Amino acid sequence: MNDKILKIKQVALEAIREAKDREALRDVENEYFSRKAGVLTEMMKSIKDLSVEEKKKVGQLANETKQEIEKAIVEKNYELSEEDWANSLAVEKIDLTAPVLPHAERGHLHPVSIVQKELEEFFSSMGFIIADGPELESDYFNFSSLNIPADHPARDSQDTFYIKNHPDWVMRTHTSSLQVRSMQKYGVPLRVIMPGKCYRNEATDARHEHTFYQLEGLVINEAITMAHMKGVLEAVAKHLYGPETQVRLRPKFYPFVEPGVNGEVTCFLCDGAGCKVCKNTGWMEIFGAGMIHQSVLKEGGIDPEKYQGFAFGFGLTRLVMLKYGIEDARILQSGDLRFIKQF
Ligand code: PHE
Repeated sequence: MNDKILKIKQVALEAIREAKDREALRDVENEYFSRKAGVLTEMMKSIKDLSVEEKKKVGQLANETKQEIEKAIVEKNYELSEEDWANSLAVEKIDLTAPVLPHAERGHLHPVSIVQKELEEFFSSMGFIIADGPELESDYFNFSSLNIPADHPARDSQDTFYIKNHPDWVMRTHTSSLQVRSMQKYGVPLRVIMPGKCYRNEATDARHEHTFYQLEGLVINEAITMAHMKGVLEAVAKHLYGPETQVRLRPKFYPFVEPGVNGEVTCFLCDGAGCKVCKNTGWMEIFGAGMIHQSVLKEGGIDPEKYQGFAFGFGLTRLVMLKYGIEDARILQSGDLRFIKQF
């Protein structure tokens, strides 16, 4: 009997050693341990029928053999799985840039986001921080804090959407709603831009949308002048439309700046000669700006005797339309893939 056991052990260990892969090893395991007809299972069963005397002689060897074979299988299995792993790494090249789904189309930035990012980078390079704020805004930050009290006619051109049962809430009509907020939050000296979505109750047409984007900016410090303002805005215009671009500032009334201007650049399509896009004027309006009104500085907790500053607001949607020659503002938010896929 002992000889038989030793023979089984020899053959089994040999088979385990030779197993080429995990499947072959599983076959060997079945051959020896299967409940029905496994060689070792049968062997253990046959021991039960032996006399007590013989059991003593054979039992220990049989058990040791069984354990030894089990251990060999476990070790070989480990060895083979290591090999499998190494092989799969060698074969499988992992492309970290591949899209998650094998054939999924990749998305990309919306044209408004492209222009916004471009401006954020440029302003960052001039030391501006980038801030954000709520689109659902209080009447105070959107209007009153900016010298636009409840009965002011400037509210007419900025009718917006209101929230039922919340008379003091409005969908912000411009990013200027963040002027006083940012002064209160960051204090002086301040250099900040605030891009974002704005809303107005418009009868929409090609140039007017109820939802659009602006990019607001503030610079406040001691001895800031209109020359600084023109310098910064000119740099932005040249960055956007090329080094030859001229900036023209013309007086315009905004209740929260004094003096206030409207900013135009030479039409980059016709170089100022006059064309359809600039309505034959040679100029295109792209921002409003001005020196921050003293009372607005006060609302922001800043001493107007000591500090001055300028504010500007770019029509971001406008810049996008000009950059890509988009004639109808409404298409930007249409979700029309034929449009979006062109960027
Ligand atoms: N908020 C103004 C508008 O929406 C633009 C502006 C911003 C003007 C900052 C002056 C200073 O038209």
